[in-house]
Amino acid sequence: MNPHLSKSRLAMVSLLPLTGLLLAANAQVPAKTLAAGGDDPAFVLPTLPYAQDALEPHLSARTLSVHYGKHYQTYVDNLNTLAADTKMAGLPLEEIIRQTAGKPDQAGLFNNAAQVWNHTFFWKSMKPNGGGAPTGKLAERITATFGSFDAFKAAFSEAALTQFGSGWAWLVQEGDTLKIIKTSNADTPLAHGQTALLTCDVWEHAYYLDHLNRRKDFVQAFLDHLVNWDFAASQVK
Ligand code: FE2
Repeated sequence: MNPHLSKSRLAMVSLLPLTGLLLAANAQVPAKTLAAGGDDPAFVLPTLPYAQDALEPHLSARTLSVHYGKHYQTYVDNLNTLAADTKMAGLPLEEIIRQTAGKPDQAGLFNNAAQVWNHTFFWKSMKPNGGGAPTGKLAERITATFGSFDAFKAAFSEAALTQFGSGWAWLVQEGDTLKIIKTSNADTPLAHGQTALLTCDVWEHAYYLDHLNRRKDFVQAFLDHLVNWDFAASQVK
């Protein structure tokens, strides 16, 4: 068993629309969401869809160990602590995010819930031997929207590099339109009615051990060698 799971209470996890993919990667994680009134409404730490060294040399096991095992685990633990014994306990993760977004008195819960969701999406946005270019309908839509795949990569990089401080760069779908956006801290497209297709974590903890301050090197490695375009295509509505 993943040693990180032993730190979490046994319960079911709600990460729709990620759940199906999560289950495909890890049969240990129970299906879908919490049953209202269940015995233990805590979230468990979802298992990575690949080994911690599987993204080397482009993303080191050392970075992933700290990012997944420490930062991500802390968000899950904080979420459980903050949601416990509140009306949020037992709700699906997406529902907690939607109900707390934009409410200053719920900022702690929103930040930790959104960071769990964002990171789960980020793990899925990468794969060993990733990168390259999308194919099929997503490729056609990216070309139609941004002019070319190279233009998309330039615009995505620009968003990632100009996000001041901690945050995320995203490819999202808004209605029938594809957009590149950036969000600060824990903010997430889910809170803005957008469908996330792809994300890159640009918090310093995502790259500092490998690249120090050179976020540009990390973003280039992400686009050239890590992106899971099959996952992005699977999220298109
Ligand atoms: Fe992160």
